[in-house]
Amino acid sequence: MHDETVSVDRYGVMGYPISHSRSPVIHRLFALQTAQNMQYELLQVPPEKLDQAVRQFQNTGGKGLNITVPHKRAVARLCDQLSERANLAGAVNTLVFGDGDVFGDNTDGIGLLRDLTVNLRVPLAGTRILILGAGGATRGIVGPLLSAAPDTLLIANRSLHKAEVIAELFSGAGRISACGFDDVPASETFDLIINATSAGLTGDAPPYPASAIAATTVCYDLSYGIKPTPFSAWAREHRAARSVMGWGMLVEQAAESFHIWRGVRPATAPVLKQISVAA
Ligand code: ATR
Repeated sequence: MHDETVSVDRYGVMGYPISHSRSPVIHRLFALQTAQNMQYELLQVPPEKLDQAVRQFQNTGGKGLNITVPHKRAVARLCDQLSERANLAGAVNTLVFGDGDVFGDNTDGIGLLRDLTVNLRVPLAGTRILILGAGGATRGIVGPLLSAAPDTLLIANRSLHKAEVIAELFSGAGRISACGFDDVPASETFDLIINATSAGLTGDAPPYPASAIAATTVCYDLSYGIKPTPFSAWAREHRAARSVMGWGMLVEQAAESFHIWRGVRPATAPVLKQISVAA
């Protein structure tokens, strides 16, 4: 007799902490929608157990993993091969287990780009973009944003050096520069301001640069929550044209991972509606 449990393909998300992750719900909805025979697990793994946990998942027949905070940079060393975008970002959020080897990719940047351009219809070509923060999240989104040909992209970070390193890394791909978090030029406004700091996660609200907002500015927080994040609340207070949290990016990056694993592209709009309503 055919045993369903044996033939189910296994996927999951590894992070620390992980209990609040929406990825299992999103991937289960994708699987249902596209009739894929798969399961998706929530795996809480502390940094010192990462290598062991990834190997174990692979050795027990796992097909692929999503990797989230704080493992996105560390997991790159376990990959036999990296996509160009993961290599440039220096961060991996998607693993594919092939015949004994591990392929690492990064779908965060394309996820943001899809949410901005397809879901939200925010034009990017010729615009002025400000990114706050210069950690792993910023590394993942800079390449895809530059591919949309903005006029300028400024990275502002508390530790100036980290912003400078990223600007230098991508300097061949477009007009990109760096400054300190408190040194965003007061005389200029931006079309798009992206919060890629982790400040909101700790409830911190650093002094975001109010002079960067014009009446037409779109503010996008890579973080998301049931209630408005500190950055999205700040953007509303300062009358940004739109203030958006990263639910759409979350669903779009998941769809890209799903496509890499299963070869089918799920429709994201109904899933986005379902999870942000459920939130
Ligand atoms: P992620 O992978 O989410 O980007 P990260 O690599 O730890 O996480 O980066 C966190 C980012 O948020 C960094 O740019 C950090 O600034 P520093 O590089 O100066 O540490 C920024 N950040 C965190 N808390 C902040 C705060 N209270 N004010 C301003 N920036 C903050």
